[in-house]
This record gives sequence, structure tokens and C-alpha cells, in this order.
Amino acid sequence: MTLRGGTRRRLRVGLIGTGVGVRTYLPGFAATGRGDVVALCGSSPRRSREVAAATGVPTAYGSYQELCADPTLDVICVASPNEYHYEHYVAAAASGRHVIVEKPAANCAEELTKFLEVPTAPEQIVLVDHQLRFNPYLRVLRDVVASGEIGRPYHLRIHQQGVGLLAPEVPYSWRFDELRGGGVRLAMGSHLVDLVEFLLAGARVDTVFGTLEPVVPVRYDAAGREHRVTADSAFTAVLRLGDTTAVLSASAAAATENLLDVDVLGTAGEAHFSLTGKLRVSTTTGSRVVDRPAGVDPDEVHNRVSVFKTSFVHLARALTEAVLDGRHEALAVGSFLRDQRPGLRTLDAVLRSARTSTAVPLD
Ligand SMILES: NC(=O)c1ccc[n+]([C@@H]2O[C@H](COP(=O)([O-])OP(=O)(O)OC[C@H]3O[C@@H](n4cnc5c(N)ncnc54)[C@H](OP(=O)(O)O)[C@@H]3O)[C@@H](O)[C@H]2O)c1
Repeated sequence: MTLRGGTRRRLRVGLIGTGVGVRTYLPGFAATGRGDVVALCGSSPRRSREVAAATGVPTAYGSYQELCADPTLDVICVASPNEYHYEHYVAAAASGRHVIVEKPAANCAEELTKFLEVPTAPEQIVLVDHQLRFNPYLRVLRDVVASGEIGRPYHLRIHQQGVGLLAPEVPYSWRFDELRGGGVRLAMGSHLVDLVEFLLAGARVDTVFGTLEPVVPVRYDAAGREHRVTADSAFTAVLRLGDTTAVLSASAAAATENLLDVDVLGTAGEAHFSLTGKLRVSTTTGSRVVDRPAGVDPDEVHNRVSVFKTSFVHLARALTEAVLDGRHEALAVGSFLRDQRPGLRTLDAVLRSARTSTAVPLD
């Protein structure tokens, strides 16, 4: 869209939450060349001012209510810790702006019901930040599976690991508290369960077996107080979906490197994705490597930046096209708030299964 005077309109974004918001959204919208984070708010007015000054974001709001009342924003991002998503989403939705809610939007399927009762306008976009769906390699992988090239997928394995939580000196925070939405089951598991839905479009989870592992069972907060860790830093889940089995594993307490490996075995071939090897598709007649799919950035090809950050740039680009150009089809692969129930039911079942050491059927 071109405004009078020839100025090209840019997307104006406000952040609630300054962790992933600053690490990923701020550079992500800037990288689109058509969007800017223009306002933020953190846990207190002082923290909002400090973070805005450090990052060059022009406006620091003292509260999320003030941010949501800013009529110049196009998009409000709810990127606060999980326990605040609902409260912040209610305000963001009421503003009438488009909304991105961080994953997991709700902490369980029951809580999602409350989110879905919040009224929104028909034209309001409410996207959940499952940004891996916008990753060019994973989009090709999904198309390979859907095309039937590797036959019926009978085995899907996804492994994610990140370094960070192995060290006992990592201070206690909401991440280690199950009741506050902590744990890798929700943090990483929400991505992996969403990828299963994305790659096996239409498949329904029948049965779930899961395990949870705290890795470091006791942590200390900034004041030196001891806390028992109630949330997992690693999890495993085996999902049965019709005639496909998905094996998911994730750890935020790995020792050396970040990995995201996705393997699909089919009755006529296989496909493997990894951050360094990229996508290889093999059938009995040969193999091909997809190393530069359309739209991929050199940082992604050479694995120089986190796959979550580069994938977010693609999501931000698609949202910008939808809002500024009216190209809503750019978001066709996206995961919207209304789509979250199956994934949350699966994550709920992982928790139930881990507590009871039994497989949990889903109806
Ligand atoms: N999609 C992804 O790739 C991805 C990656 C990481 C995280 N996430 C999601 O992003 C969300 C936040 O995680 P995070 O890693 O950013 O957490 P974090 O590192 O703990 O950061 C949370 C930020 O939110 C601020 N905050 C805390 N309470 C707040 C409140 N009541 N109102 C507004 N801001 C508040 C904190 O401010 P202070 O600095 O003042 O404490 C902090 O800057 C979670 O839902 C998580 O699952 C997504």
C-alpha cells in the first residue's frame, strides 16, 4: 500500500513481553523490510523503559492495557510468560488489532475454551506463533509427504534439543514450575506436536504415551531460595495416529548443540531434515537433496541463526503481506488460535501418561 506523498506503509507492531519478543520478533519484523516493533511493555514500567532504551523501540508503555489502547498499532504480540497469555490476549483481542499469541497459547485444552470465548472481529487475524510451519524446508517436506512420493508415512520421528538448562546454576523461574506453564512439554513439545499435525495434515492422534524428566530436580532463585523443580526439562512422547506412529523427543538441557531432526519413513521412501544436512528425499529410484528451497535465506542454508528465528521471519513476512496487501493466502499454512485444541489435548495426554505410566487414549 502506498500512502499520499509516496511513503510506503509499514506494519506497526506492539510487544507484550520482552523476552522472545526482543530476541525474535524485533529482528524478525525488521528483516521483512516492511514492519517495525514500535512499542513494548514488560513486567513493570521501569523494565519497559529499560528494554525500550536498550533496543531502540520508540515507545515504552507502563502496562499492557496502555499498549493495547494505542490506536496506531496493526498487530499486538502476546509474548509474555505462559501464565499471563489469557489476561494479555483478552486485552489484545478487545483492541480489535491483529494478534500473535505465543505458543502454547493456552496451557491446556480446558483453558483454551476460555480463549475461544473471547469475541473477535471477523477480519481480525489471531495467529499462534508456530513459526516452523513457515520454514521453507519443512514446507517442502510437508508437500513431499502429501504428494505420496515416499508412500504412506508409517513412522515420523522428531527430535529437538537445545543447550541452556543443564547447568544447575540456571536460576529458578516460571520455566521450572508446572503450575505456571513451565516445562519443555509445553515449550518445545507444543512445536513438535504442531509439526506432526502440519506434516501429517488431517491425521488424528488416537493414543499417547509420554515421559517427563526434570534433569536438574532442585534450583535456586535470584535470592538464593531453594525450589523443587516440578516441570520437565526433557520429554518423550509416542503418538499413534491411525496407521502412523510419531516419536517425539526434546530436551532443553543438552550439553553441546542445538538440533532439530525430522525423519519420515514411508512405504515407498523416506525424507530426512536436519539443521546441517537440510532436506534429503530418497526412494528406491534415487535421492535428492533440497538445500535451497524457494524463499530460503543464506543464514538458513548455512545454519547461522536459530531455526526458530529464521522461521519467524517467514511468518512475519506472511503476516505483513496479509495485513498490508490483503494477501490472506500468505497465511494459509499458519496455525490459528481456533486450531489449537487437538495439539493441546495431545500435550495434556503426555502429562497424564507421564503421571500414570500408561498409554492414554484420546476419543
Ligand atoms: N516460538 C518460539 O520460538 C518461542 C521461543 C521462546 C519462547 N517462546 C514463548 O514466548 C513466551 C515468553 O517466553 P520467553 O522465553 O520470552 O520468557 P522469558 O525469557 O521469561 O521472558 C519473559 C519476558 O516477559 C516479561 N514479562 C514477565 N511478566 C510480564 C507481564 N506480566 N507482562 C508483560 N511482560 C512480562 C519479562 O519481563 P522482565 O524482563 O521484566 O522480567 C520478560 O522480559 C512463552 O509463551 C514461550 O513459550 C516462544
